[in-house]
Amino acid sequence: MLFQNPTFLGAIASTLLLSTSFVQGVCLHNHRRNLQAGPGSVPISNFSYIGVTGPLGWAGLDPANVKCSTANVQSPINIEHGVVPPSPTNPQLSIPDVLSAEFENLGSTVEVVINGTTIFEGKTYTLKQYHFHTPAEHLIDGQFYPMEVHFVNIASDGSILVLAALFELSPFGTNENFLYPLLAPLYAITKPGSSTTTGPLIFSDITYLFNILPLFKYTGSLTTPPCTDGVIFLVANSFLPISLEAFLQFKNVLKFNARYVQNAPGEENLVEVAAGQLPK
Ligand SMILES: *[C@@H]1O[C@H](CO)[C@@H](O)[C@H](O)[C@H]1NC(C)=O
Ligand SMILES: *[C@@H]1O[C@H](CO)[C@@H](O)[C@H](O)[C@H]1NC(C)=O
Repeated sequence: MLFQNPTFLGAIASTLLLSTSFVQGVCLHNHRRNLQAGPGSVPISNFSYIGVTGPLGWAGLDPANVKCSTANVQSPINIEHGVVPPSPTNPQLSIPDVLSAEFENLGSTVEVVINGTTIFEGKTYTLKQYHFHTPAEHLIDGQFYPMEVHFVNIASDGSILVLAALFELSPFGTNENFLYPLLAPLYAITKPGSSTTTGPLIFSDITYLFNILPLFKYTGSLTTPPCTDGVIFLVANSFLPISLEAFLQFKNVLKFNARYVQNAPGEENLVEVAAGQLPK
């Protein structure tokens, strides 16, 4: 399961495979901004991943999105072992298991609305939702992965903490209890703006992953407009297994919803770099 390990057949992987729940997304979707009314009860994001409403055009959609093209701390990034440090401590993530939860297609992702609490470095955050990206947004040592989940947490002072985990295709199937129960209801929300309810969700696997196993830590941003910077990212240093069938089902609904990899934290925003290279 460790990123250094090309397989996830180790002890940690076995532990995760035996567990029955894992799923989330890591985009912080601000439900008040960058949303417009959809055909269903769920507002549809008015940004996309293609063309002028795609990542290179996000800042042009709304003045509030200016950081997408100017901030020098942006996500996702290429996480290099030995460059991005391990988190010195793990968070304390607590998610009550639920009999059902709201499951929404925002156009830009699908997300599960849940309650929970994350305590990290003395601050208490409220867990809002988890959502998915295909392909994964973060690279690990330059390699891409098929899917990523983000658990989005917000503190009372507005601080944002995202717990992120990447999936790797597995011949052993998908039995994570936070992911597998989403496959059937996913068929009900293939259209942007639609929503449904899930069956029971169990979060013991995902809390084990974030509370016990090694994580990377860096300060980045929301990977979606308004690209708010100063977001703490804790990215699991091990993969979640997903079956080919489950991956294809998610990909069919999510389409392509990964922001391009940003410059290293602290380096100039790549949109500004590119603008500076235009012929005068
Ligand atoms: C996106 O939503 C924001 C906030 O409502 C709005 O200001 C902006 O004009 C919208 N952009 C598009 C392209 O609809
Ligand atoms: C989250 O908490 C709210 C308020 O107590 C409740 O209405 C909602 O059903 C909870 N959501 C889940 C998924 O349990």
